[in-house]
Amino acid sequence: MLTLSDVHRLYRSDEVETTALRNIDLQIGEGEFVAVMGPSGCGKSTLLNILGTIDRPTSGRYRFKDQEVADLNEAKLAQLRRENLGFVFQSFNLIDELTIAENVELGLVYRRWAGKDRRARVEAAMDRVGVAHRARHYPNQLSGGQQQRAAIARAIVGRPSLILADEPTGNLDTENGAQVMDILQALNGEGATVIMVTHSPSHADLARRRIDMLDGRVVVSATRAI
Ligand SMILES: Nc1ncnc2c1ncn2[C@@H]1O[C@H](COP(=O)(O)OP(=O)(O)O)[C@@H](O)[C@H]1O
Ligand SMILES: [Mg+2]
Repeated sequence: MLTLSDVHRLYRSDEVETTALRNIDLQIGEGEFVAVMGPSGCGKSTLLNILGTIDRPTSGRYRFKDQEVADLNEAKLAQLRRENLGFVFQSFNLIDELTIAENVELGLVYRRWAGKDRRARVEAAMDRVGVAHRARHYPNQLSGGQQQRAAIARAIVGRPSLILADEPTGNLDTENGAQVMDILQALNGEGATVIMVTHSPSHADLARRRIDMLDGRVVVSATRAI
């Protein structure tokens, strides 16, 4: 599905240069469930942002589904994102002023579907993660677990082939974290590729493959036998 070849990411400010990623060579296949682990600051979010095409490598190549990402113009990039990608963040990132249903519908922005189809999709996505009964509520009326499930509904309403989740259980208690993991596993079981950053060894153990990072490098990449 995707290949990174000798990817580097350098952040430059006036005084300092930070190398967030160095020499990243990585291939991830269709249908994989990958956990990315490593200490804070080691480059996990930078890696996810590059995979999600919201950041670009300073050098090196990124191929996604046979397309060289660097060669795509903004319109093609936007198309790649909306047709393929779903993002889930640690802090949910729902919009406070919108209802849950409206937040989920944002996952369909720029999709030219008729109103009836949109509503059906939004309804199905909310149903899928168990927040349909909260459709008309606002994010601050929901528990953290419900908010994260709503955020997952927004991520999956466009039926992405790749779900990128950056510490999706980081702000949740054990039970709500387990629910989110159940949902991610089920989505993977239905064919979605999932790449998830986590600090939880038990959540990482639910993934078939684990990537350990340190100081901007991938230090171990291991796939478990089934
Ligand atoms: N926008 C930025 N500007 C400058 N440095 C950054 C920026 N984003 C991340 N970094 C630096 O890059 C390194 C990797 O960050 P990050 O990918 O967020 O790590 P992680 O997600 O593993 O905690 C860190 O040293 C961080 O301080
Ligand atoms: Mg991070």
